[in-house]
Amino acid sequence: MIDLDDTSAIAKVDPDDFLGDVEAFPDQVREALDIGQGVDLPDLRPPSSVAVLGMGGSGISGDVLGVFLGPRSPVPSATVKGYELPAWVGEDTLVFATSYSGNTEETLTSYEQAVERGASVVAVTTGGELADRAELDGFPVVRIPPGLVPRAAMGYLAVPLIAVLGRIVGESYAAKVEELLPMLDEGSGSLGRKVPASENPAKRLAAKLVARIPFIYGTSGAGEVAAYRWKCQFNECSKVPAHHHSFPELNHNEVVGFKELTELTSSSVALVVLRRAGDHPRNDKRIDITLPLIEDEFALVEKVRSEAKGELASLFDLVYFGDFVATYLAIAQGVDPSPTEIISRVKSALAT
Ligand code: PA5
Repeated sequence: MIDLDDTSAIAKVDPDDFLGDVEAFPDQVREALDIGQGVDLPDLRPPSSVAVLGMGGSGISGDVLGVFLGPRSPVPSATVKGYELPAWVGEDTLVFATSYSGNTEETLTSYEQAVERGASVVAVTTGGELADRAELDGFPVVRIPPGLVPRAAMGYLAVPLIAVLGRIVGESYAAKVEELLPMLDEGSGSLGRKVPASENPAKRLAAKLVARIPFIYGTSGAGEVAAYRWKCQFNECSKVPAHHHSFPELNHNEVVGFKELTELTSSSVALVVLRRAGDHPRNDKRIDITLPLIEDEFALVEKVRSEAKGELASLFDLVYFGDFVATYLAIAQGVDPSPTEIISRVKSALAT
């Protein structure tokens, strides 16, 4: 296992400095706010619904917007992760088409449907086909900086959506993102590579997860999106299989699934439970009842708790911690967190 306190060993395993991008996330959020506030927008009517098109590291931006809007907005929103738009997308829908590369097939396909349906579209991308088509079609393009892998660009991809929507509906949504910055700065300072494992909970959790399959449980809303992001980061950065689910739904199915294969799960599966200060009290109770019933079926059970107030803050808090854990897990295993070769191979094969 690579020593996570050895910065020169980290640099060898992580030649593109993915960890540096994670450490710099608060600055990315600052810049993304400026980008979202500064982009030229035509006069757009407040929408009656919002759809975010995007896959993988880009599509998570729609889930973030959904968490942000969840408790405060009468306007329904959905993330479209596929080729087909739901039937309700129409002229009164605001559609954000998000693709870091600008060349993702599913997003380009659903973008064309949004154009056909007369929706108002805003593209968020570094360029590619999406920027070309949106410019040609006369839609605003939020241009974000290139040079990252998409999942390291969550700030650039998600924050402009919140800022732009705030401008369209006349609400200071950007201020809600600004409020997150002290928390993110604190996270960057306390979880970065220079903080030794003895004082760094992200390094310590990563070390415990080496050679284990992580199962991540959250709670519906921000906790569920955070658990999904953790799972995806374990897949793409750490290159391990991972699974996520959420309370209360998992109480109605998943809890039954540990009766068989106990030998396998209790030697190889690590359960990480994401808790939030804002969790529904019934979910708190559910977790307290459920864990004693299943904890023997896991190799280890870890709890991560966010004390952040509000859905968006707890989401960013948990996601940021998870991004560090997945990156450190990659490095501890001696695995470069940046490349995602199989994703590129599938895309190339589909393009021929
Ligand atoms: O993290 C990744 O690289 C992927 O999940 C991509 O985000 C996904 O394949 C979609 O590509 P793009 O973000 O360029 O639209």
